Amino acid sequence: MCGIVAYVGHRQASDIIIKGLKRLEYRGYDSAGIALLNGGLNVYKKKGKVSELEAFIQGQNLNSPIGMGHTRWATHGEPNDENAHPHYSATKKLAIIHNGIIENYSALKQDLLRKGHRFESETDTEVFIHFIEDIKDNERCSLDEAVRLALTKVIGAYAIVVMSLEDPELLIAARKGSPLVVGVGRNEFFMASDATPIIEYTNEVVYLNDQEIAIVNHGKLTIKNTANLPLTPYVQTVDLELEAIEKGGFEHFMLKEIFEQTKSIRDCMRGRLDSNSGRLTLGGLREYINKLVNADRILIVACGTSWHAGLVAEYFFEEFCRIPVEVEYASEFRYRNPIIREGDVVIAISQSGETADTLAAIELAKSRGAIIFGVCNVVGSSIPRATHAGAYTHAGPEIGVASTKAFTAQLTVLNMIALIVAQKKGTITEQKFHEVLVEMENIPAKVEKALKLNAQIQIIANEFKNATNFIYLGRGYNFPVALEGALKLKEISYIHAEGYPAAEMKHGPIALIDEEMPVVFIATKDASYEKVVSNIQEVKARKGRVISIVTEGDVLIPKMSEFVIEVPATLDPLMPLISVVPLQLLSYHIAVMRGCNVDQPRNLAKSVTVE
Ligand code: G6P
Repeated sequence: MCGIVAYVGHRQASDIIIKGLKRLEYRGYDSAGIALLNGGLNVYKKKGKVSELEAFIQGQNLNSPIGMGHTRWATHGEPNDENAHPHYSATKKLAIIHNGIIENYSALKQDLLRKGHRFESETDTEVFIHFIEDIKDNERCSLDEAVRLALTKVIGAYAIVVMSLEDPELLIAARKGSPLVVGVGRNEFFMASDATPIIEYTNEVVYLNDQEIAIVNHGKLTIKNTANLPLTPYVQTVDLELEAIEKGGFEHFMLKEIFEQTKSIRDCMRGRLDSNSGRLTLGGLREYINKLVNADRILIVACGTSWHAGLVAEYFFEEFCRIPVEVEYASEFRYRNPIIREGDVVIAISQSGETADTLAAIELAKSRGAIIFGVCNVVGSSIPRATHAGAYTHAGPEIGVASTKAFTAQLTVLNMIALIVAQKKGTITEQKFHEVLVEMENIPAKVEKALKLNAQIQIIANEFKNATNFIYLGRGYNFPVALEGALKLKEISYIHAEGYPAAEMKHGPIALIDEEMPVVFIATKDASYEKVVSNIQEVKARKGRVISIVTEGDVLIPKMSEFVIEVPATLDPLMPLISVVPLQLLSYHIAVMRGCNVDQPRNLAKSVTVE
């Protein structure tokens, strides 16, 4: 979490940094700040969103060809002006921005306090820059050497940029565990948490690896590692269009991304799946596919919405491939000494490719000999680089904090993986394989049909916008969809919502049902349809307000429901791709009607790079 951006070149740094921070706000928005060399090393910072910082610096002389900025998701210290980044060193001749956590900051701080240092904030980051300056003064070394020495002594995760009053053309950046990209322009350089603040100016980038330090000085980029080995910068071209990171006429990124799902699902299958020829290939799996085919067990690790995608995958991997699957919260997996046997294969799912717990779970499983597959959206991010093999979801940048199109793209990729494995294992008939391929190609059109329900869903949202609780129920493939529907609602509307397997409701949540309680049933015509009908009756009998997602043409459930949303029919394993869409729209409209900031809900961040 936290977004960082820095610039040195021939343009106004403040313009580039403010714009860049707005693009990185998905990473946190507790406070924002900027440092410039405009007649001194000046720091401007403010609690709240980047727009508040922008208002604060309005009208000031911000003339500077070098600068850096930060948008914060608070870890150490509450979100206020003092704890906002950048932070100064003791002499105020250095400043730092930081994404991550310095775990041994308390010990470092005690040492520095003993030496007479005084701190203005409660952050680990301020300790870090004091520490760097202390080393520089004691060792009488260059700033980049002091940064390097400091990095060998800190424990934790970081992406940092350091600026100096005395070196007006110098920016020093480093990373370990938190992402950092260096943009290489013509006589100008950019540094940022991802490429989105950069691509407007250049698509040539260098992704820093862990323990690497990038130094831009007098128009030249050099890279070395923390062991002081010089490295050759590996410049890559990023394939990212500016329009992909703009709202394109939609009121919010979340709405744009919900509506993009027809395209993103199609993009995800493009060149990989063709039902006419029966071709299904995922290039990134080829080398290791037999590990999956021969796996005794698949362990899926993920967080949040990606974990829900893993739960759906559990059903279809077991159905198609007959391989036992366990789906784990990465944060639990990594801390409970998990049993990993030969023959176990791990699949890590992550939109951002940067989630700290998922990354740590991968490292743990790797250290115990497991082969790891990644299913990620952000190309070049840390998780795909840490895995043995994998497939990108190709959903394009997802900026709304609540994940939507990444979820359906994850399901699409996971489905494709399961089908490839099932075919190789011989656990699926050719006829069924072909039937699923054909139906996967039909999914984008069916999602488009589901999106046409938008106006109807707005009416339902209006009816329930003042609810204080919601229950979401589904069975089989629609159970993880119930969890995801509930998560979407609570994330962005702050209404308490619970997802449950519909039958399990009897063992607790049914006590919550009264004439006020909205209960959303995902009750499409599948293997458990009749059972769900009984569950709806149970809710009706207790006067709950039933909203049902049903398959087009259903005549039974509408009679028992106050509101009905009809979605196109499909095969059971593919239904989550369609049935989740109305739930995304329902939460979106309820949140907008309640006046919530749907793209930047309180306390959340899109990319959780702290554990
Ligand atoms: C955060 C986001 C969620 C996301 C989760 C996992 O909590 O707000 O939307 O599902 O992280 O992120 P990942 O990038 O690993 O899928």
